[in-house]
Amino acid sequence: MNTKNFNLSKYLKEKKYIIEEYLNKILLQFDQQRELVKAMRHSLMAGGKRLRPILAIAAVEAVGGDFRLSIPVACAIEMIHTYSLIHDDLPAMDNDDLRRGIPTCHKAFSEATAILAGDALLTHAFTIVSKPEQIKLKSNQDKFAKSEQSIFEVFPDKLILLELVNLISDAAGVDGMVEGQMMDMAGASFTNNPLPSSNNLHLQSKVDSPFQSGSFKSDISLKMDYLKRLHHLKTGRMIIASVQAGAISVGVMPNHNINAKEQLVTKQFKNLTNRFGSETFNLLTLYAENIGLAFQVTDDILNVEGDPSIMGKAAGSDRLNDKLTFPTLLGLEESKKFAAQLVDGAIESLSMLPLDFQERSLPLKAIAQYILNRNK
Ligand code: IPE
Ligand code: IPE
Ligand code: MG
Ligand code: MG
Repeated sequence: MNTKNFNLSKYLKEKKYIIEEYLNKILLQFDQQRELVKAMRHSLMAGGKRLRPILAIAAVEAVGGDFRLSIPVACAIEMIHTYSLIHDDLPAMDNDDLRRGIPTCHKAFSEATAILAGDALLTHAFTIVSKPEQIKLKSNQDKFAKSEQSIFEVFPDKLILLELVNLISDAAGVDGMVEGQMMDMAGASFTNNPLPSSNNLHLQSKVDSPFQSGSFKSDISLKMDYLKRLHHLKTGRMIIASVQAGAISVGVMPNHNINAKEQLVTKQFKNLTNRFGSETFNLLTLYAENIGLAFQVTDDILNVEGDPSIMGKAAGSDRLNDKLTFPTLLGLEESKKFAAQLVDGAIESLSMLPLDFQERSLPLKAIAQYILNRNK
């Protein structure tokens, strides 16, 4: 599985284009003159790498499915991600002025409007994922128009939709991204101080790997545990959900759903689910856990040494806000090594997929490598 001949930048560009077309269609359902819609558009259409929806698409492709089936949930995830960025930038949180190369939502609009635009993006994401036929294509000029229309008509089994709603609400919510943001805000207050007792830290992750820790806890190792959990929740959960959403949208399901899975397999999904469904799901999850953590470690590194004009957001803010980050804890070089180990782990999980899936997972592999070397 060699990515040398794989053109990742072409792949990212093509998929980003498709996602943005759909995001735009979603916004166009509303009156564009409304202040709320303008603020939603400001942040949602400002660019961004679209990494999460692209991961969903790449996961579908890895299991040989039709990526168009994952478009509604992929867009929903990008909407939730954008809401989280709008709120993350607010004065009460990171207080940032620049995002995706333009003024943050609360700078361009009012603080209240930014909060509400975030709320609206989050809420509307669930309208889209629960009723994907809403984004049927209207334009005849669209080259996918005909086939997509038919795909959304058969798409998808309501149990799959329910599974997707549950997946993304769980990843974004109380035990997911929002709790990660709480830990991030709390972490800012004890960067240079001992941590509170581990009983209060909720160190146990629901997911076992790659977050195992030894039994002896020094202050550094406690902070490491805290930080891994924080990053897993704040960033990892949505990245993991993106990969899993791709798999689920074509019927590749987790173990615990094995019974539901049998009921909901429609003809179109039969091939995929019968072939290593749950093992494949677990390997993709392991891949995503590793890149999810690696992604936030590289975000921390870029916050120290990245170029704001390339990143489209400020650097140095973690230090200003006294954030607990991998570079503050391990130093830059060790943080880079750690990110590289995680990416190796991600690639190793792909190498355990069935042979034909391995070939098809080249985009996932190339994305893992890109996460390590990204400059924005
Ligand atoms: C930034 O996410 C916030 C984190 C969770 C690290 P991205 O780096 O994916 O931001 P965009 O979507 O490309 O703007
Ligand atoms: C943002 O994390 C994470 C979420 C919005 C969930 P950061 O605060 O570390 O990311 P940037 O650097 O502002 O993009
Ligand atoms: Mg933050
Ligand atoms: Mg921030």
